[in-house]
Amino acid sequence: MSPRMDAFRARIGGFAFGGDYNPEQWDRGVWDEDVKLMRQAGVNLVTLGVFAWASLEPEPGRFTFGWLDEAMDLLHANGISVDLATPTAAPPAWLAHEHPQTLPVTDDGHVFGFGSRLHFDPTSAVYRGHAAAITRALAERYSRHPALAMWHIGNEYGPVAYTPGSASAFRAWLRRKYGDLDTLNDAWYTRFWSQRYTSWDQVCPPELPRSWSNPARRLDFTRFTSDALLECFTAERDIVRACRDDIPVLTNFMRFYQRADYWRWARAEDAVALDIYPDPGQDDSHVAAALNFDLMRSLRAQPWILMEQAASAVSQWKVNIPKSPGRMRLGSYQAIAHGADSVLFFQWRASRGGHERFHSAMLPHSGTGARTWKEVAALGGELPRIAAAAGSGTNAEIALFFDWDAWWGLTQTHGLPRNDFDYPALVTEHYRPLFHAHHAIDLICSRSALSRYRMVVLPNAYLVGDRFVRALEDFAAGGGTLVCSFFSGVVDENNQVRQPAYPGAFRGLIGAYIDEYWPARDGEEFAVSFADGTTCTADWWQESIHPESATVMASYAGGDFAGRPAVLSNTMGAGRVVYIGTRLDRPGLAATLLGAATAAGARPVIAGAGMPGAPEVPEFVEATRRANDCAEYLFLLNHSATDSAVIGVEPGGTDLITATPVSGPLTLPPLAVAVLEYPAAPPAT
Ligand code: GLA
Repeated sequence: MSPRMDAFRARIGGFAFGGDYNPEQWDRGVWDEDVKLMRQAGVNLVTLGVFAWASLEPEPGRFTFGWLDEAMDLLHANGISVDLATPTAAPPAWLAHEHPQTLPVTDDGHVFGFGSRLHFDPTSAVYRGHAAAITRALAERYSRHPALAMWHIGNEYGPVAYTPGSASAFRAWLRRKYGDLDTLNDAWYTRFWSQRYTSWDQVCPPELPRSWSNPARRLDFTRFTSDALLECFTAERDIVRACRDDIPVLTNFMRFYQRADYWRWARAEDAVALDIYPDPGQDDSHVAAALNFDLMRSLRAQPWILMEQAASAVSQWKVNIPKSPGRMRLGSYQAIAHGADSVLFFQWRASRGGHERFHSAMLPHSGTGARTWKEVAALGGELPRIAAAAGSGTNAEIALFFDWDAWWGLTQTHGLPRNDFDYPALVTEHYRPLFHAHHAIDLICSRSALSRYRMVVLPNAYLVGDRFVRALEDFAAGGGTLVCSFFSGVVDENNQVRQPAYPGAFRGLIGAYIDEYWPARDGEEFAVSFADGTTCTADWWQESIHPESATVMASYAGGDFAGRPAVLSNTMGAGRVVYIGTRLDRPGLAATLLGAATAAGARPVIAGAGMPGAPEVPEFVEATRRANDCAEYLFLLNHSATDSAVIGVEPGGTDLITATPVSGPLTLPPLAVAVLEYPAAPPAT
């Protein structure tokens, strides 16, 4: 754990609660009411200044810190800590006007002009210079302010620029990566379509997305963009650290965000933070939310910060459905159950104007009479009851591969057997049955250590590097179970088909070769029969599989591939590899994954029917555990709006929210949450 985060945690003393606060949008008179209501709601942390550049530097080099001095002092006097943002996600009009070359150009050649936010080219030296200046001025002024608890650099980094500046930064990045042009030409396989480069000046970012451009070049430009954005973050991070080194520095990530490789970014921060807006209009949005929460925890294998969520509706979609009563509370506890040490919102007070004027807030336009205010204030009052759980960790036996290179390979390039892969959706489909069966799941990337897991799941791992292939082989040979789905192990890190194909890298692992990938027609389905007599359907994809050492777990019962293998099991050393060569329906995928998990000895976090006299834990109840040296915390969350659940839990615990001992089966009404504390097991002697 970062010592800076330890200090932050000690200062907050439990879970951080609050949100983005934008006093610059309001007259001074409103601020006193703000802090009074913040205290009423139990707010202990606010994020200040995220988009306040124009209010802090109205002209180049003229800083107007008076209002921020007053806001910081007022918050401090009221016992509220500050997560102070650098305002560099929203450059002021003067910067765009005087230096139009700081504006990004989109991939279709249009300048993304002033008037929204994130209108900066991350490679622009002028932008970076002005961002550094405002960051330095803020750091010099506020580093020692007693309210300062955390630095929040920028906001949701994401712009991509197709500018001349970006082209030259891309070339510099490529020179660092490849050294010389011959190596680049080999990596990009430029012998195809006469694409060989003879001078660095000829190398540019990929052209329009509709063109069939070189797949390795597209992949490298995507990697470069993530790195260019990260450089913006680290430049500002280093400025604030130079003024004071014991304050945590981070930025906020987004749900399933493709443009930044968050595994690499997480290493540059003191903690990971997430903004998440699960769609209340979708019944199962809590499943993908749980996956994202697990990803955030896994990125640094540490508790993380829920930086933004909505009190109710958002304003960015076509139809913005509110969170019905109880849903905001449930979602907040869900984040904590997966390792968050905070519940923070966008934003404190709803903005009267601007694009987000109808976005919900902790304090909505209708004020303290509003339902959402009452729910927010009640949650703020309740969180201190579970304060002991802050900082605690988790322990998973199953790991799920979620890797940006693998994602980019599948989706940033053209010319695949099918070009409509939705990587987050495919990963979520593999996560879903394990989540519903109450397994704890870590996310891993190609550099993660595997030995602590019993099972590793690799959904559609199209692009994998050699080192990861060796790690997977060692894992399986050492007794681990791998479950791998179709179109995996196909290309190397340069997006070139591994020879001999297919599946190049994974042939030894899956114990079979594949001579043809066979995408399905729309609506086409195939019956699949398992060796144990069960059946399911599959669609979307088939492969012409030829087992070598593998045995057939399931075959197609009809269609072009009737009688041919669909699912394989291969023994490798002391371990086992299950290969799924098609897109199984939900019951089929669930049976395959859960069967492999059981055989691997992975135990769900709650025994349910295993407890004497206890019924099965229903799928709509989510269960997770966190633990520290003193105690273990069992989180139970009922996602059903209509059904209660009776859960068999171990006796000897205390329900922290109701402060009652737990002696027998626990009843969870619809949308209810229980946090049960158990003394830590004494260490084995
Ligand atoms: C993001 C941003 C916020 C706000 C919210 C709205 O997370 O960081 O500034 O726009 O979305 O949902």
